[in-house]
Amino acid sequence: PKRDWSSDVCSSDLKKEKFMFIDTHCHLYDKKIENIAEVVKRAEENNVKKMIVAGIDLSSSQEAVNLAKQYSSVFANVGIYPESALDVDEKLLNNLYDLAQYEKVVGIGEIGLDYNYEVDRKIQQNALLKQIELAFSLKKPFVLHGRDAYGDAVNLLKQNKNLLAYGGTFHCYTGSRELAKEIIKLDLHISVGGVSTFSNAKNVQEMICYVPTENILLETDAPYLAPTPMRGKVNEPSFIPYIAQNLARLKCCEISEIEEKTTKNAEKLFKF
Ligand code: NI
Repeated sequence: PKRDWSSDVCSSDLKKEKFMFIDTHCHLYDKKIENIAEVVKRAEENNVKKMIVAGIDLSSSQEAVNLAKQYSSVFANVGIYPESALDVDEKLLNNLYDLAQYEKVVGIGEIGLDYNYEVDRKIQQNALLKQIELAFSLKKPFVLHGRDAYGDAVNLLKQNKNLLAYGGTFHCYTGSRELAKEIIKLDLHISVGGVSTFSNAKNVQEMICYVPTENILLETDAPYLAPTPMRGKVNEPSFIPYIAQNLARLKCCEISEIEEKTTKNAEKLFKF
């Protein structure tokens, strides 16, 4: 089907629709976000009824849990990001395990591999595996960051298929179509964020066209990578409808279908 890449991303009447979107990945504790209460309120007003705040180290994971305690629409993921992989030891894993006992902790993340960081690759891979084991022991999904390391991340998962029973997602996935196919074969999800709306991200858009909507989650990764037409601004969960509308355009379907399927996917994966 013919796709129109050029027209405006979002129509003004999105707010009036009775949609329910979920932002499956954001960092509301980040200093760039000035007023969390207002950001949460704006999200709810824009039909983003649930949002998951992901930790990147122990203190931000604790902050994610605190926000989940404070706001009914906020849920938490706890995990250690590849940049801090050196910190992952028995004690830290126990801390994460304890944090994850809170009922609104719905996954382990954000964890993963990122070879742009100085941290030794073997140490990153070990920290990732340990946290995937943790997710499995907690019967929770994992949320994986794999920038420039998608191949190694997929291989690690393929070698540990026994740990994938509770699912997981590749957050802000910008890898190849071939690897996306392997991720889907593992029954994992692919999270689509602001990058998918950028006019210079044709490869990402083409890849997304081949991913079944049944495997897609929506996310902002706020405060980073705001979608078009908010590009350059501080990203926030209320921008999810722009990502959904663009995804509907890529898939040549109605936004209501994107809303219905991605919300169902998120609810099933994170069990909330
Ligand atoms: Ni993130």
